[in-house]
Amino acid sequence: MKIEYADRIHTLPQYIFAEIEQLKIIKKKQGVDLIPLGIGDPDLETPVVILDELIKQVKVQPNQNYPSSMGEAEFREAVQKWYEVRFNLNFNSETEITGLIGGKEGIANIARAFINPKDIVLVPTPGYPVYENGATKLCDGSPYLMPLNEENDFLPDFETIDTKILRKAKMMYLNYPNNPTGAIAPQSFLKKAVDYAEDYEFFIVYDNPYSEFTYDEYIAPSLLQINRDHVEINSASKMFNCTGFRCAWAVGNERIINGIRKVKSQIDSGCPIFIQKAIIRGLNEYKSNKKPEIVKRSIQIYQERRDVLVDGLNQIGWKTKKPKATFYIWTRLPKNELNSMEFVKKLINVGVIITPGVGFGQYGEGYVRFALTQPIDRIKEAIERINNLLN
Ligand SMILES: Cc1ncc(COP(=O)(O)O)c(C=O)c1O
Repeated sequence: MKIEYADRIHTLPQYIFAEIEQLKIIKKKQGVDLIPLGIGDPDLETPVVILDELIKQVKVQPNQNYPSSMGEAEFREAVQKWYEVRFNLNFNSETEITGLIGGKEGIANIARAFINPKDIVLVPTPGYPVYENGATKLCDGSPYLMPLNEENDFLPDFETIDTKILRKAKMMYLNYPNNPTGAIAPQSFLKKAVDYAEDYEFFIVYDNPYSEFTYDEYIAPSLLQINRDHVEINSASKMFNCTGFRCAWAVGNERIINGIRKVKSQIDSGCPIFIQKAIIRGLNEYKSNKKPEIVKRSIQIYQERRDVLVDGLNQIGWKTKKPKATFYIWTRLPKNELNSMEFVKKLINVGVIITPGVGFGQYGEGYVRFALTQPIDRIKEAIERINNLLN
């Protein structure tokens, strides 16, 4: 029997995370005490009010039935209300909002609705790998990589993109607060992005799952506050520390929402109703654009961790900046270290797991990413081990 992969499968990159996973298993077997700061998966618990609601709702029989792939009406109404209190924007929950099974699903499925073979998609790099691979390449589209350089505050420089490319582009992914760089986008940049989209007739998929993950009084905006012609994806995953029970939403332009819904109706049967109901409970905690207690509590913990990690790295001579958002620390490799994967392997030998920048695309080379997913004493221990290795 001949079993051949479709050509598009060969366009996907080698999954370097699998190699790191393998090394981790070996080290664990050798009895090395591992400090995982690699994957962006919160170690903090989902707020109790959400967990209690989840347990209550899962026991109700109708909540165990098939959900609607576009989200229950009650869920879409809660998202509508959240946009109103959080961003002062009003959307129609019937036509301008859809539920998703996680932001990742929405990012990938939107391309199925809008990308024809060879269509150009503008993709930031380093970036969340799904924009380039799971979305664009798996739809036979053509990713155009927009470098995010530190000298430009990790914002793409639209002026450097050939106008022929811009004219052919159909869609652009943007993500601020940004994974992996932790960068935020000023209003002036968002305005510029929207102007380019209008001039060259493409739409923006604004991936905003870290909108609540901000420090030092910074409040992240919605792109839709600048212009409602685009689409924004947000997710409960990081907002409520619940990456495992998948729930997200897309809001914006009716035609784009309708495209996502059409694709989803042929592929999935939606986020479980009891999860949607639990997330409604969390969203209802918002009374203004300020974070409610349930979110504030975990952000304070991450902020303390950020300070301990960044101050600690600087003290051992590894120059690193504090991000204003996200639970990621993106930093250039220490002096004399040439390759992010080789450096990460060295750290695994001493039990510290971080992510090589190259895992976020070729423009991520030269950097590594720490995720703040361990308590302070473990972060301090990691710094000590790194110090022993470097100095
Ligand atoms: C930038 C970005 N977008 C989207 C996601 C997906 O989030 P989820 O599918 O859990 O909603 C992540 C997760 O790490 C992310 O970092």
